[in-house]
Amino acid sequence: MFICVYPWLIAFPNFFGQVLATPAALDYIRQHSAHRFNNIPARANPEENMPQNFTLQVNGASRNVNVEPDTPLLYILRNDLELSGPRFGCGLSQCGACTVLIEGRPTRSCVTPLSAVGARNVTTLEGLGSKDRLHPLQKAFIEEQAAQCGYCTNGMIMAAKALLDKTLKPTDAQIKKALAANLCRCGTHNRIVRAVQRAAKGAA
Ligand code: FES
Ligand code: FES
Repeated sequence: MFICVYPWLIAFPNFFGQVLATPAALDYIRQHSAHRFNNIPARANPEENMPQNFTLQVNGASRNVNVEPDTPLLYILRNDLELSGPRFGCGLSQCGACTVLIEGRPTRSCVTPLSAVGARNVTTLEGLGSKDRLHPLQKAFIEEQAAQCGYCTNGMIMAAKALLDKTLKPTDAQIKKALAANLCRCGTHNRIVRAVQRAAKGAA
């Protein structure tokens, strides 16, 4: 019998209109594959997972936490460091709402255990700009009204940041490709592409 435990998630279209997996497939991803998306180790066994001290480099500052090594980075950012830019969407590396940059690379923080981060630099949405000094992408998203509910916006902006860091003047196709794995249930895709183009052109 088909039981949909993530109806909102399955309803999310991405830029290519892809439909997500069945609950059984999602469960398989959780158990066997999620860690592979970010080249991170599989879950530690309970004996190896006692709380430890970790020093993280987040948005240019050193932050200390005492947690279990397999705690998802997303939980640390939101609950311990009070950085609420990255969002919890699916928790399964499927939607992109939790995206942060690790050494400039878009990374799903919901499936990245803290022990896999090490001394690498983590950048969250808060690290791009502030309320008084917006990053060009943040400004462009506002100018283009590229959010409806806004739940996907963190992931879209972080993925776009990684793209623009490598490609100064991307084509629409390059933007769509870079953001294809980030899901938006509200259908703001065209506005998002326009916002990224606006930021790229420095028109924001
Ligand atoms: S919360 Fe959906 S990919 Fe991380
Ligand atoms: S999910 Fe609502 S604006 Fe993208």
